[in-house]
Amino acid sequence: MKKSKKKKKSNTWKIKQHRDQFFKKSKTLGYRSRAAFKLIELNEKFKFIKSNSKLLDIGASPGGWSQISSKIVTSGKILSLDIEKMEPIKNVSFIQCDFLDEKTCQKISSFFGENLDIILSDMAANTTGNKSLDCIRTNELCAQVIEFSSKNLKPNGVLVSKLFMGEDFIEVRKLAKSMFKKVQFYKPQSSRNESKETYLHCTLLKTL
Ligand SMILES: C[S@@+](CC[C@H](N)C(=O)[O-])C[C@H]1O[C@@H](n2cnc3c(N)ncnc32)[C@H](O)[C@@H]1O
Repeated sequence: MKKSKKKKKSNTWKIKQHRDQFFKKSKTLGYRSRAAFKLIELNEKFKFIKSNSKLLDIGASPGGWSQISSKIVTSGKILSLDIEKMEPIKNVSFIQCDFLDEKTCQKISSFFGENLDIILSDMAANTTGNKSLDCIRTNELCAQVIEFSSKNLKPNGVLVSKLFMGEDFIEVRKLAKSMFKKVQFYKPQSSRNESKETYLHCTLLKTL
């Protein structure tokens, strides 16, 4: 893309962002991202975050979801992960690492020492400019989180993960249904209409 076109596009994005009610509200309330409202809505719908939850937040930076979780989880434990840095949040431990790195699983296990109540993933692959490819890459991350959750959640634990309504959506839904008895989808109002993003809520692990 030419430099001037690229600049115009990023300016349009900035104007849109400033007009956005959730962006404004996040600034007023001191949330680090407008994404915070997506977790608020997801938790209002499914009521899954408890005061004593052992909760893992994957793809947590800049920290909106971790901020919301830390307000509710007062006697449990929260671990957040991201490839990027994240400014500290009270009562939230953070590890800067790649979820796909094989050492990450060990780091998570030694932090919690037992299986988890909640796994959240808002991971999104870096955008390439090719929407279809971006969808596939983010849904691949979602598939990895589903596999990880089937081994690391308590039997009645909850997984909430971002995914896109792309061409491989059916494959990811099939994978989730093969591992969980209850699989639901929900697109929060704070998720932009033009985005193919939705969220998966899975509970009740199938035992072999
Ligand atoms: C949409 S942002 C998350 C926003 C966050 N939920 C919040 O409330 O502020 C997606 C994040 O996923 C992270 N991410 C993408 N791939 C990752 C990976 N393989 N391991 C860890 N984090 C990853 C990105 O670095 C990015 O910070």
